[in-house]
Amino acid sequence: MTMPALREDALAAAAAVDERRLWDRLAAMAQIGAIPGQGVNRPALSPEDIEARALLLSWADSLGLSASVDAIGNLFLRREGLDPSAPPVMTGSHMDTQPKGGRFDGIYGVVAGLEALQAMDAAGVRTRAPVEVVAWTNEEGGRFPPCTMGSMVFAGACRVEDFVDVRDNAGIRLGDALAATLAATPDTARRPAGGPVAAYVEAHIEQGPLLEAAGLQVGAVTGVQGMRWFNVEVSGESAHAGTAPVSLRRDALREAVAMIAALRELTDDPSDITRFTVGRMLVTPNSPNSVPSHVLFSVDIRHPDRATIARLGDAVEPTCRAQARACTVTVTPTLHDDPTTFDPSVVDLVESAAGALGLPTMRLPSGASHDAMYLARMCPTGMVFVPCERGISHNEAENAKPSDLAAGARVLAATLAGLANR
Ligand code: GLV
Ligand code: MN
Ligand code: MN
Repeated sequence: MTMPALREDALAAAAAVDERRLWDRLAAMAQIGAIPGQGVNRPALSPEDIEARALLLSWADSLGLSASVDAIGNLFLRREGLDPSAPPVMTGSHMDTQPKGGRFDGIYGVVAGLEALQAMDAAGVRTRAPVEVVAWTNEEGGRFPPCTMGSMVFAGACRVEDFVDVRDNAGIRLGDALAATLAATPDTARRPAGGPVAAYVEAHIEQGPLLEAAGLQVGAVTGVQGMRWFNVEVSGESAHAGTAPVSLRRDALREAVAMIAALRELTDDPSDITRFTVGRMLVTPNSPNSVPSHVLFSVDIRHPDRATIARLGDAVEPTCRAQARACTVTVTPTLHDDPTTFDPSVVDLVESAAGALGLPTMRLPSGASHDAMYLARMCPTGMVFVPCERGISHNEAENAKPSDLAAGARVLAATLAGLANR
């Protein structure tokens, strides 16, 4: 795709971005699911998610945007274009958070998208193509694994039915939580999943240290590293902690610990590029004086190189099996994302929008996953990053500066206007 230079109206839209309004909306969203330490716990498809959706819909209504929702709960807010039949340019991110999440991961991209549309209104900018802000369902996967579920369904990589029986730690089915979420906004029009989409640009905090270290307010994201997720289930037999001889036990936790140690060795990387995380573990019966009969743990492995992530991911099951002694083990892949490279023309446009706005910038890859990965399968895609304090994220202390967030929203507004007026 070749991209024309940005027109004046794209820069006018950027100039109309209102830092205070953007910050106030982020602050209002941060109240929904607020936890101590300035954090947010807003799990996907929870009452808090429902409340955030209602607030977003009220803002969209006041801006005259038309709202629609698809079967996985992705919420779309549309600003009409001069050519309503043109495929929309999309932007957005997610409103769900990690259990101990921050005020910016995800919600910034949704609120910045809304701000970009409001800025276009304020600047009197009409676009040829419609522009839609999307709040993707369950990007985090913290409650219902895997992550990026909404964008996966939208891109046709999975079906809603693939996920309805996923259960959270309390045993609640995703299908039931999704039905409750959809029922909470009965007046929102239903739309089919999927495109066509003309282009997608997502704004997000970097969640890493590079922009802050470089003293930059915005970055043009080149792509996302690859990622493999698994559920490992180890099954043994419960027994009395005081009476059962250790040699006769089928202790699921003991074997799970051996598997995790072996996976650590597998992913050991002196260059510190490989990421390996076991972040979730469910132990049954979870009692101090019963030998564990069952353990489920998650595996998250990431690497920017396609061959390396393939090799490491393929080795997870044999590595776990080699540690099974008296127990049985089942390894279920739940996510397989190859590394993503964003469309160079969109990366160029983000960079030139920043340049035209007088914002020095750099190109950088994303260590975190994003819904943009799945949109990149459908249309030219890119991302705008803004710095966050010390790169801290998935943590209540996540922090970002209002001026940086506004700078990212300006670049987003100019980029969207540029794409929608091609
Ligand atoms: C998304 O939050 C991720 O895990 O990268
Ligand atoms: Mn995110
Ligand atoms: Mn996240």
